[in-house]
Amino acid sequence: MAKHFKYVILGGGVAAGYAAREFAKQGVKPGELAIISKEAVAPYERPALSKAYLFPEGAARLPGFHVCVGSGGERLLPTWYTEKGIELLLSTEVVKADLASKILTSAAGATFTYDTLIIATGSTVIKLSDFGVQGANSNNILYLREIDDADKLVAAIQAKKNGKAVVVGGGYIGLELGAIMKINNFDVTMVYPEPWCMPRLFTPDIASFYEGYYANKGVKIIKGTVAVGFDSDANGDVTAVKLKDGRVLDADIVVVGVGAKPLTTLFKGQLEEEKGGIKTDSYFKASIPDVYAVGDVATFPMKMYNEMRRVEHVDHARKSAEQAVKAIKASEEAKLIEEYDYLPFFYSRSFDLSWQFYGDNVGDAVIFGDNDPASAKPKFGAYWIKDGKVVGAFLEAGSPEENKAIAKVAKVQPAVKDIELLKKEGLVFASKI
Ligand code: FDA
Ligand code: NAD
Repeated sequence: MAKHFKYVILGGGVAAGYAAREFAKQGVKPGELAIISKEAVAPYERPALSKAYLFPEGAARLPGFHVCVGSGGERLLPTWYTEKGIELLLSTEVVKADLASKILTSAAGATFTYDTLIIATGSTVIKLSDFGVQGANSNNILYLREIDDADKLVAAIQAKKNGKAVVVGGGYIGLELGAIMKINNFDVTMVYPEPWCMPRLFTPDIASFYEGYYANKGVKIIKGTVAVGFDSDANGDVTAVKLKDGRVLDADIVVVGVGAKPLTTLFKGQLEEEKGGIKTDSYFKASIPDVYAVGDVATFPMKMYNEMRRVEHVDHARKSAEQAVKAIKASEEAKLIEEYDYLPFFYSRSFDLSWQFYGDNVGDAVIFGDNDPASAKPKFGAYWIKDGKVVGAFLEAGSPEENKAIAKVAKVQPAVKDIELLKKEGLVFASKI
């Protein structure tokens, strides 16, 4: 017999945890809500996996980083869900979603029905084996998405102590893992196809700071080429990475971060999609009744830019989840809440570095401050200017107040008359807004 819940959250990641907290705030009754997750643990702050979870000393471990500590909230331990009467159905992968009949089926054959569904399935990694890269299934070629992946990496770091690591990809995972592997005393080489790292956000000027900083830490960087094959030994353990430009790099561990794709396959043909995600309105309502989508999987109206967008970052996962739950509860009382009006916020940390970005990285970028990677305390930022207005702001090594100031700039979008003055003023410009 199917188990019925008034509300089901499908997926047990960041968005699921913040949605559960919002349901509790809104007075959900015991037995009304279930979270179904293929992971074995209660929702946690995923960003920890590429940072403190992999530290050689004082590493973060659960229950230390269950949601909602990442945004300064109360930590939701498994007992919290029990106390609230929220059912956590863990190690349960849903393999079929029949949205017309409102039935979810797990890999073990259990069925669940619901009145309202929140899809929070997040993203999955793109694998090199997806493009048929030769030898890509060798042992110790590792990806990072879930805690099980992080545990495999921790085991490999232990097993291959002080060895050679090749990091494939120059995006978020590439940069964070390149640093972590170095901190773990590996001889690290990063490889990516673009002319500079993090091209979806960084300008060449910003990237050159991080590349220089990494080089000073002893990380080798090879740009403009890709991994086309891997060698392995008799045990199937990876031993080398073959690059398209003919070079061959010795490797004991390969960490791959070549992007993620939203997990929408269960709903193909049942929901409208846009830009690779599930199309929603400003309340995260999908194209059929009683179905919502939040976090990485949702393509939603970005009000500020009058455009449909998908965002693969934790701040939006948290806020979209809260918005959807508020909208569900409001609709039950025939009330309306405000539209989602999201200011994009991304951040990263590696080595002693820490940056934040707010807004949109379109138009022309102006860099300010000290971006010399050899400086004792480098501190710099950038503004993006479009149609005479500042639309995006980036800051490395900002204080909480300074980060708040650049967020305000990106939100207010002040006009800029004199670019040279803006460059000279740097943070002073933000502090005046
Ligand atoms: P999320 O991926 O968190 O959760 C999805 C959940 O659904 C998982 O538990 C999954 O197992 C489950 N699931 C999927 N399909 C299922 C099925 N069929 N049945 C059952 N369960 C299913 N962002 C940022 O802004 N700053 C940062 O520093 C970082 N750092 C970072 C590090 C690492 C290692 C990763 C992988 C990602 C980040 N991010 C980040 C991105 C951020 O973590 C991401 O945007 C959010 O986790 C998205 O939240 P969701 O809840 O949408 O997906
Ligand atoms: P990404 O999109 O940030 O970067 C992918 C990178 O892969 C590209 O920049 C490119 O350099 C590289 N690439 C593409 N094809 C390649 C190939 N064939 N060989 C070598 N390199 C190739 O994706 P990611 O870094 O894998 O991150 C995965 C997901 O996790 C994303 O959703 C990301 O937002 C999220 N994440 C976010 C943070 C953060 O916000 N701080 C941290 C970690 C992960």
